[in-house]
Amino acid sequence: MNGHGIQLINVGKEFKNPDSYKAALTNINLTIHEGEYIGILGLNQSGKSTLARLLNGLLKPSLGRILVNGMDVDSSEQIREIRQLLGIVFQNPDNQLICPVVEEEIAFGPENLGLSPSEVNKRVSWALEIVGMQDMRYHAPHLLSGGQKQKVALASVLAMEPSYLVLDEPTSMLDPVSRWEILEHLRKINKENHITIILISHNPEDLLDANRLIVLHEGFIYMQGTPREVYADMEKLTAIGLKPPGLYQLIQQLEEEGYGIDDNTSTIPQLVEKICQK
Ligand SMILES: Nc1ncnc2c1ncn2[C@@H]1O[C@H](COP(=O)(O)OP(=O)(O)OP(=O)(O)O)[C@@H](O)[C@H]1O
Ligand SMILES: [Mg+2]
Repeated sequence: MNGHGIQLINVGKEFKNPDSYKAALTNINLTIHEGEYIGILGLNQSGKSTLARLLNGLLKPSLGRILVNGMDVDSSEQIREIRQLLGIVFQNPDNQLICPVVEEEIAFGPENLGLSPSEVNKRVSWALEIVGMQDMRYHAPHLLSGGQKQKVALASVLAMEPSYLVLDEPTSMLDPVSRWEILEHLRKINKENHITIILISHNPEDLLDANRLIVLHEGFIYMQGTPREVYADMEKLTAIGLKPPGLYQLIQQLEEEGYGIDDNTSTIPQLVEKICQK
């Protein structure tokens, strides 16, 4: 593929140790277009983090190929460029934070790109504002709470202005307000800054904004479609221990009672408005 986007072609990942063997991902075929907002949903051990690590070459596929804007992730000449294009916020922020001060942490990447101090400063301020952490600019990352660390890790990746932003469970340590704020910001940077979002979560509620959902189960793509399509198939979801978000459970029950709810309903207030109009 020469154009923009990410392509995974027959990708498999196996972990072979002297005493164990694990097929973490099997036969993954997936094309992600620039500008999309993709949700990757799956329970523990379904292969989500393995997929994230394959995307920027931290792990090598055992089988198949991965292309980012046409560049092979396996190519050592292109990996630097790929990592500039594709930023990952890892599941555990402690593995990502290395500097003694929040500001330095966020400036680290842009400085390494050789940007001017004023451009670096602009990016640090922008990224801190997006995650609502301006007040923590001069604090030490290791003294922050888990949720605050997740926000700083997100800001440090945002400051690189990646084309593709992969977030591995970025809300797992956040309270409901912070979680909602981060999801709101992801929506915004996808729409306004045209950053492609690949949001990984085990929580179906996190992925309501995605244009497309990929459900992983035991390393396979188990389902895919719009959130509405995926969440409407309650039986298939519950078969692997997932539950659709409350909104979709409500829509399904209303439809069973004879209420037709149109496809544009993506929030509970919208649903209430539609029911009240009937
Ligand atoms: N470095 C490794 N060596 C051996 N096995 C591994 C390694 N990394 C991952 N695995 C195995 O691959 C499978 C998928 O792991 P992965 O971390 O991708 O799952 P996940 O969906 O991210 O899970 P979680 O929701 O718990 O974060 C698991 O069974 C895990 O034990
Ligand atoms: Mg994981």
